[in-house]
Amino acid sequence: MQFDLTEEHLMIQRAARDFAQNELKPGIIERDEHQKFPAEQIKKLGELGFMGMMVSPEYGGSGMDAISYSIVMEELSKIDASTSVVVSVNNSLVCYGLEKFGNQAQKQKYLVPLAQGDVIGAFCLSEPEAGSDATSQRTTAIDMGDHYLLNGTKNWITGGSTASTFIVIAQTDVAKKHRGINAFIVEKGWEGFTVGPKENKMGVRGSDTHSLMFNDVKVPKENRIGEDGFGFKFAMAALEGGRIGIASQALGIASGAYELSVQYAKERQAFGKALADLQAIQFKLADMATEIEAARLLCYRAAWLKDNHLPYAQAASMAKLFASETAMRTTIEAVQIHGGYGYVKEYHVERLMRDAKITQIYEGTSEIQRIVISRELLK
Ligand code: CAA
Repeated sequence: MQFDLTEEHLMIQRAARDFAQNELKPGIIERDEHQKFPAEQIKKLGELGFMGMMVSPEYGGSGMDAISYSIVMEELSKIDASTSVVVSVNNSLVCYGLEKFGNQAQKQKYLVPLAQGDVIGAFCLSEPEAGSDATSQRTTAIDMGDHYLLNGTKNWITGGSTASTFIVIAQTDVAKKHRGINAFIVEKGWEGFTVGPKENKMGVRGSDTHSLMFNDVKVPKENRIGEDGFGFKFAMAALEGGRIGIASQALGIASGAYELSVQYAKERQAFGKALADLQAIQFKLADMATEIEAARLLCYRAAWLKDNHLPYAQAASMAKLFASETAMRTTIEAVQIHGGYGYVKEYHVERLMRDAKITQIYEGTSEIQRIVISRELLK
């Protein structure tokens, strides 16, 4: 068993850490407050090869492993989870699914620009009445011979207004239930496709989240991914990998809050000594550090299983469940350690606390992760 990161992993970690400090930290409070999308930062992340990290160089990607992806997600999320969620959706939910299940033509046309970071991708599964219950798709894609006719509404779509390529999950044959669901590649600007207003969110406010409306959108047959009826399995497989990304995002939010707390505890004086000399604070920091280390090991284990082509659905859900709960607990404690300063924006921990909450909700709530974990245990 090997617990050390390789030289290559350490190099990628340094690059992501430098990027987060130099490119993400400046302006982070304003971007959060004004819900400003980090367009320039995403462009630069594309140039660094972080938008298609695990995609083969044959399709414009960086050919890195899932451990590297986890490392990068942690480092970016220490500072800016609004940027890292865009990175995660593009890498896991869009690029991974296209590379694994798309055909040659789809990969050349859509995957290459996504992996190179020239365009952004979005993954459209959730609906007003189908969040956790993902099989209850109301969006329909009726087979019209040479094309499908797409109708319906998708909710809470990350990249709703900035993405150019959308993977849309829709029901083609209601009688077949989840086996009648398909996944389609839809382009921005197609007739009948409209983007709703931006959601005013509690956290990850720099990322753009929108509803999308499809009204008789013509989707060419060649834009269906996989065999007829493969869409639900496609979505579940993409989400498995996505959960490693969001687990690592939660890990980063927790470790960002922890690092700020250690620094503050050493600097801040109270009762004639540094906060760090008070046992009440030391115990909090010890609990934070222990949980973060456990979350990191779960993230790396899930990524390692994926890299070694072993089943990883349960491991990814365990990582996401534990890391997101850790992010919530850690950020609440970080605000507590900072006292009044923790409650104002300049000290960053209140933003991290707001950002932490979404990691318990998107790509499957904590309750969904428990369903996935327990099914594997009991089957
Ligand atoms: N890979 C491949 N196939 C899978 C799979 C996987 N990981 N998991 C399930 N399937 C298949 C099953 O084998 C089954 O197929 P058959 O019937 O043909 O054998 C089929 O899918 C249905 O599976 P289940 O019976 O397990 O389906 P279910 O409805 O009972 O439960 C669930 C599934 C786990 C609850 C699922 O609905 C789920 O994960 N829900 C949460 C959805 C979610 O995560 N949404 C996030 C939206 S995206 C997002 O958040 C992005 C963002 O903004 C950041």
